[in-house]
Amino acid sequence: MLGTGYLGATHAACMAELGHDVLGVDVDASKVGALSEGKVPFHEPGLPAVLRRNVEAGRLRFTTSYEEAAEFGEVHFIAVGTPQRKGEFAADLKYVNSVVDSLVPHLRGDTVILGKSTVPVGTTDLLRARARGLTGHTVEFAWNPEFLREGHAVVDTLEPDRLVLGVEEGGRAEEVARQVYAPMLARDTPFFVTDTATAELVKVSANAFLATKISFINAVAEVCEAAGADVVALADAIGVDSRIGRRFLGAGVGFGGGCLPKDIRAFMARSGELGAGHMHGLLREVDAINMGRRTRMVDVARDACGTLLGAKVAVLGCAFKPDSDDVRDSPALNIAGQIQLQGAAVSVYDPEAMDNSRRLFPTLDYATTALEACEGADAVLVLTEWRQFRELAPAAVGAVARGRTLIDGRNCMPRGEWEAAGWTYRT
Ligand code: UGA
Repeated sequence: MLGTGYLGATHAACMAELGHDVLGVDVDASKVGALSEGKVPFHEPGLPAVLRRNVEAGRLRFTTSYEEAAEFGEVHFIAVGTPQRKGEFAADLKYVNSVVDSLVPHLRGDTVILGKSTVPVGTTDLLRARARGLTGHTVEFAWNPEFLREGHAVVDTLEPDRLVLGVEEGGRAEEVARQVYAPMLARDTPFFVTDTATAELVKVSANAFLATKISFINAVAEVCEAAGADVVALADAIGVDSRIGRRFLGAGVGFGGGCLPKDIRAFMARSGELGAGHMHGLLREVDAINMGRRTRMVDVARDACGTLLGAKVAVLGCAFKPDSDDVRDSPALNIAGQIQLQGAAVSVYDPEAMDNSRRLFPTLDYATTALEACEGADAVLVLTEWRQFRELAPAAVGAVARGRTLIDGRNCMPRGEWEAAGWTYRT
């Protein structure tokens, strides 16, 4: 497993759980050190137990040596990141390229490499050509995208909705993948074998669709707000239609994280390059709607406080979603930062993401509990729908806050209870 970040560490542990012998490779020695001791360097429910179990059983090891990896692997998975390029929308393929450059010269025979990273369509062909210049052996590339969600990574990996594999004609990749994923295929997990361009596009299209669904409901929310309608009741009513579906119709401060935002931008850039103008235009709008939600939330907070200058604002939630400590492109943290820049004192609390938030935004005031964050607050903002925030007692918050405005950025709070306790509820 080449790369042991979120995707690679999870996939490595889960492949060992299936009974395979796995070697995880990373250039980051501290990550390799932690994982070798059975420690997961991020918050993912259930993963520490799977990792520890397989490290202890001797099925799972980690190294920084590509030479060792080349010797060890019958099949290699690429699981490194493909971040947004600085100052551009396109994906940066430097880590994927560097894996190929580091591994391929050490290969001692014909090899199958399965790519899992999210890449722009056409990448598999580029990597194949790149590898050809580095070795005399045949290196077969296939693309095997990953659909796991943070917070559900183990179950999504071990019990996926589907497996997708993009292959070259006449190669061995399908046979190899069938062996690797045998337990899942035995359970009749749908397995789509396609050409490599289709497989690459399946992944980005899935994320683009989810992002579009969220931005759609957020655009409807804007209309609801102007017309005095209730977007949550509306989502419930349209969501029962199975053609529409209720999931990902959660209106609020929008999507963030290490995947959806950068993936739709990379897809936008690649569509533009390919002359597919409609996808480019659609995703531009999806992105603009999403980013607009953050500004709108700052406006609502300003309106509630009269002015942000000198106000005290409590922000509950920093992670981009609950059950995660990930703050990459987090709407919550971004909003907290914008409110502070406009002159408010912002006190934030998150059950898991405090350390990561502090690193990114050291100037915010970090409380040790949700109630401490609310002390003296003119307005309380809920920006990540952690269960413990939904269960907060309005009277307890009222005892420490100065104002009585609850701003629900995720449409997750029990509105009736808060209003009954004398709070003004805004969303
Ligand atoms: C997403 C996809 O759901 C995975 O299938 C995919 O494998 C992954 O990206 C990836 O490409 O690696 P993830 O980033 O873990 O997974 O997060 P999601 O659960 O999709 O949530 C993304 C964002 O959308 C969060 O900020 C969440 O709060 C927001 N969201 C979600 C909404 O604003 N409204 C909703 O109704 C649902």
